[in-house]
Amino acid sequence: MLSDVSTSTARPPADAVLEVLRTRSAVRHYTGDPVDDILIDRMLDAAIAAPTAANRQAWAFVAIREGINVRRVRAFAPGIIGDPSVIVVACVDRNRCAEDPGGGHSQLCLAMAVENLLLAAHAQGLGACPVSSFCGPAIGRLLELPSHVEPRFIVPIGYPAQELASPCRRNRNEVISYERWGKVTRPPARIG
Ligand SMILES: Cc1cc2nc3c(=O)[nH]c(=O)nc-3n(C[C@H](O)[C@H](O)[C@H](O)COP(=O)(O)O)c2cc1C
Repeated sequence: MLSDVSTSTARPPADAVLEVLRTRSAVRHYTGDPVDDILIDRMLDAAIAAPTAANRQAWAFVAIREGINVRRVRAFAPGIIGDPSVIVVACVDRNRCAEDPGGGHSQLCLAMAVENLLLAAHAQGLGACPVSSFCGPAIGRLLELPSHVEPRFIVPIGYPAQELASPCRRNRNEVISYERWGKVTRPPARIG
């Protein structure tokens, strides 16, 4: 179980992990095949293993597996393109944000948790997409969320119906510098 990671000393091979990180991309079309509960729980366990400011864990997740409920959520989420088998709604829990009045840290934490979830999906042969285009109040009512729990991301998940497209990224020289802004050449490795 991924939830055991915090107490485990075993390290997965770096190449395998980096391959998962490098090859993930947004998956918006799904085969409709059901997703086993064990896989769903592994994704959720990966999500809550994410870094979180002051270990506040100001997050909450609702996993939606029943077809009728998936379709209801989808009706209020135009950002979902295909028909996912599962949806995870990732929320900020404002009751745990007392020292973070603007909720900025909590949003960062939630984004990290969602990325973990996306990577766990990909590592298990599933596809997923972070979605922020949805009607939060309608989703809140639909899921009977308490008022302090605010949905911030929706993650549709399923088996990919298409080959994964390689994510297109800006040239690394545009976005990565060494030692100071704009220095794109890596200096020789430091010794000692
Ligand atoms: C904050 C955020 C919101 C997003 N919202 C949506 C969305 O509503 N619908 C959608 O199809 N994709 C959404 N995406 C996915 C991005 O479009 C996608 O990550 C981006 O095009 C890069 O592609 P990649 O994930 O395949 O690398 C969102 C991504 C982020 C980080």
